[in-house]
Amino acid sequence: MSIKRPSDLPSSAITPESLYFDRRGFLAAAGALAISAALPGCASADDDPKATGTPFGLQKDDRPTPWADVTNYNNFYEFGLEKTDPAANSGAYKPTPWAVTVDGMVEKPARYQLEDFLKPSKLEDRIYRHRCVEAWSMVVPWRGIPLADVLKRAAPTGQAKYVMFTTVFAPDTMPGLRAPVLTWPYTEGLRLDEAMHPLVMLATGVYGRDLPNQNGAPLRLVVPWKYGFKGIKAINRITLTDKMPDTAWNLAAPDEYGFYANVNPEVDHPRWSQHKERRIGEFAKRPTLPFNGYAESVASLYAGMDLRKNF
Ligand code: MTE
Repeated sequence: MSIKRPSDLPSSAITPESLYFDRRGFLAAAGALAISAALPGCASADDDPKATGTPFGLQKDDRPTPWADVTNYNNFYEFGLEKTDPAANSGAYKPTPWAVTVDGMVEKPARYQLEDFLKPSKLEDRIYRHRCVEAWSMVVPWRGIPLADVLKRAAPTGQAKYVMFTTVFAPDTMPGLRAPVLTWPYTEGLRLDEAMHPLVMLATGVYGRDLPNQNGAPLRLVVPWKYGFKGIKAINRITLTDKMPDTAWNLAAPDEYGFYANVNPEVDHPRWSQHKERRIGEFAKRPTLPFNGYAESVASLYAGMDLRKNF
């Protein structure tokens, strides 16, 4: 009888989460928060008993959601409406080669190949809470670049007030586009000052690997204080504009999905409460936090705004 050492195991037998954390040299026994504390920029909530969270908003009992859930419980309607559809139906979709256009009210519009688009920035690992409007949540170790890097390079003109994002339209490989459930291509938007906030990422990876197709390969938006539908996937256009952009969910149901979509336990969805959420993999529900736990960093963006009206 022989004991298998990790190097003997096929890579498929090693879960990406253990690979991800091992590569960073963490002890297997370390708790998830200790792990996050060792990542660049992640302080532990244990450091300061008064702290409500870390710069990346993790709370004491946040644990990274396993890879299997992050990559098999998805919303990506271009591949179907069920949570397992994106993983099951995205095999033919090709995220390489990939071009990204940055245009609109900018001094330096350009069309980049993805490699050139990313090159000036340093890829960063950040673990964020991820709260879907459907009242489930995850904790996801993303990899990506600050959106602000891309916007600064494009040099927005004085007129630019909003940023619009557009998903690729690829009917040959996205079977969900045949159903008129949303206005295709999927679009999303942020106010320019929101978009410049350092927490906002353009993610290219999860658990230190390139994004799987179902998670929005090769480039998706991550805005951790907003509901998950703002996290538009498979982005191939970023447009600066002076008008609040039309967004896929706001067009589909304006009374249910606002432009701002800041996580807010005090503003219910018309068909369900937003007070609690079910963390995928957990049984008991946990309370939803204002701005998903990132209020300290982002509440000032909305000073003086009626957040019931601007939901
Ligand atoms: N982006 C596109 N292009 N199409 C979509 O259907 N769904 C959104 C968002 N981005 C969606 C999308 C919704 S509703 C959520 S909750 C998140 O993606 C889910 O991201 P995840 O599957 O990586 O958890």
